[in-house]
Amino acid sequence: MTASITAHGLTRRFQNGKAVQTVIDRVSLAIEPAELTLIVGPSGSGKSTLLSLLSGLLRPDAGSVLALGQDLSALDGPALERFRLAHCGFVFQGFNLFPALTALENVALPLHYGPPLGRAAMRERSAQALDAVGLTPRSGLRPQELSGGEKQRVAIARALVKQPKLLFADEPTSALDSHNGQVVIDILHRIAREQGTTVLGVTHDGRLMKHADRVLTLEDGRLVDDERARITHSSILESA
Ligand SMILES: Nc1ncnc2c1ncn2[C@@H]1O[C@H](COP(=O)(O)OP(=O)(O)OP(=O)(O)O)[C@@H](O)[C@H]1O
Ligand SMILES: [Mg+2]
Repeated sequence: MTASITAHGLTRRFQNGKAVQTVIDRVSLAIEPAELTLIVGPSGSGKSTLLSLLSGLLRPDAGSVLALGQDLSALDGPALERFRLAHCGFVFQGFNLFPALTALENVALPLHYGPPLGRAAMRERSAQALDAVGLTPRSGLRPQELSGGEKQRVAIARALVKQPKLLFADEPTSALDSHNGQVVIDILHRIAREQGTTVLGVTHDGRLMKHADRVLTLEDGRLVDDERARITHSSILESA
């Protein structure tokens, strides 16, 4: 399989007061499509920073990132923005849904920024994305009428609606209880498998690791472990 994201000697430093802290330290890796890869590690080990570097939100001080065959360091700001708009979906811990909009309308929002689509096509794409997270019956509800787990699933559908090749999720489960955390991770896993998406997530929760195809461990900005999981194919959604 050809990797969809590769990094070589990735290094990022931050100036903290007078000290310079090396937050990501010569990380090299290759992330595969159609897999859920999770980055784990202690707080402050550089997980979010690594995700930002790999998605082009942050530039490295040294090293390079090749994403979908594109050397991100060769892109200027606007080109990087276009790359992200076209190819990347993002899910964060806070769901950032618009309270006045229904689930379906929240999911449709990103379609307003991009190649023009007719209203019917927009509705269809949004409905498909909601269906992929199992929320079709909830499509007319507003965020305050949804549970935390459902809100995160709407946020995932919104990240998916443009059918990005790369999906980045920083602590998508940390605001959820363990059942809903597993549901969300199972959904991310299924999206990777069924749609061929490269899904790269960060988690604190050790219990979720067995739901990933691969787990990368960061410590003090260094990649210290890279493990392929013994995949358990028990999807909570499928067995429900
Ligand atoms: N913009 C910044 N300016 C200065 N220091 C930063 C910046 N962003 C991150 N850092 C530092 O880099 C280190 C790693 O931060 P990062 O957010 O990547 O960790 P993390 O592994 O995601 O932690 P957590 O699990 O708590 O989210 C921390 O020590 C943090 O203080
Ligand atoms: Mg973080």
